[in-house]
Amino acid sequence: RRTAAVIPAAGRGVRLGPGAPKALRTLNGTPMLIHAVRAMANSRAVSLVVVVAPQDGATEVKNLLAEHALPERTEFLVVPGGDTRQESVRLGLAALPADITTVLVHDAARPLVPVDTVDAVIEAVHDGAPAVVPALPLADTVKQVEPSADGSPEPVVATPQRAQLRSVQTPQGFDRALLAEAHATVTQDVTDDASMVEQLGVQVVVVPGHEEAFKVTRPLDLVLAEAVLARRRA
Ligand code: CTP
Ligand code: MG
Repeated sequence: RRTAAVIPAAGRGVRLGPGAPKALRTLNGTPMLIHAVRAMANSRAVSLVVVVAPQDGATEVKNLLAEHALPERTEFLVVPGGDTRQESVRLGLAALPADITTVLVHDAARPLVPVDTVDAVIEAVHDGAPAVVPALPLADTVKQVEPSADGSPEPVVATPQRAQLRSVQTPQGFDRALLAEAHATVTQDVTDDASMVEQLGVQVVVVPGHEEAFKVTRPLDLVLAEAVLARRRA
């Protein structure tokens, strides 16, 4: 039984605004990707981390991994990513050695996930759940709308009961063979890995997520992430 973490880090970060690929931007001086790699490698159960680098950034990522202090017991691989997150994850999975039985998929854009959350996901998979996602209840009410292309007011279609909704984070944990099958068969566009497993008809379960596992998406998220890091060091 051996666990690996795949970190998709090949996105541009369009919503963050102009600049370097998002995963390579720094938080309090350290690249976001390095924070995310440490978050995975700090779990004693994770023995291999596969970083899916920006398409022309594999060498830069390898250099970053060499420059920063990381746990010695962890093995690292770097592969170039694809045009979509889904494709990047697939390329990361393809690099896993045969003896990996459990795989985590973790967004580089969630650099501050606590190790306890990582361990809780792994534990749930090891206890027999084939697909596990960390998630939190929502603060906002969510409306389903009919999207308008022209900027006109969007009609509300439905309001799902907030108490039944969860906001889903990463790392998501899977039986390795199951996730490989999902990536080999599901061709629809999806926004997370668990939804591909759902499409195979396999039950996905939720464990408690963590506020600090939020995704750095827009400029305000950078402010929050740096404040969280400063508080940790205080
Ligand atoms: N990702 C990836 N390959 C892609 C697109 C995204 O590996 N072709 C990764 C990102 O690097 C990120 C994670 O998937 O770690 C979640 O994606 P998101 O937060 O949407 O990041 P970006 O796609 O980079 O941001 P944006 O959508 O604003 O461009
Ligand atoms: Mg994206």
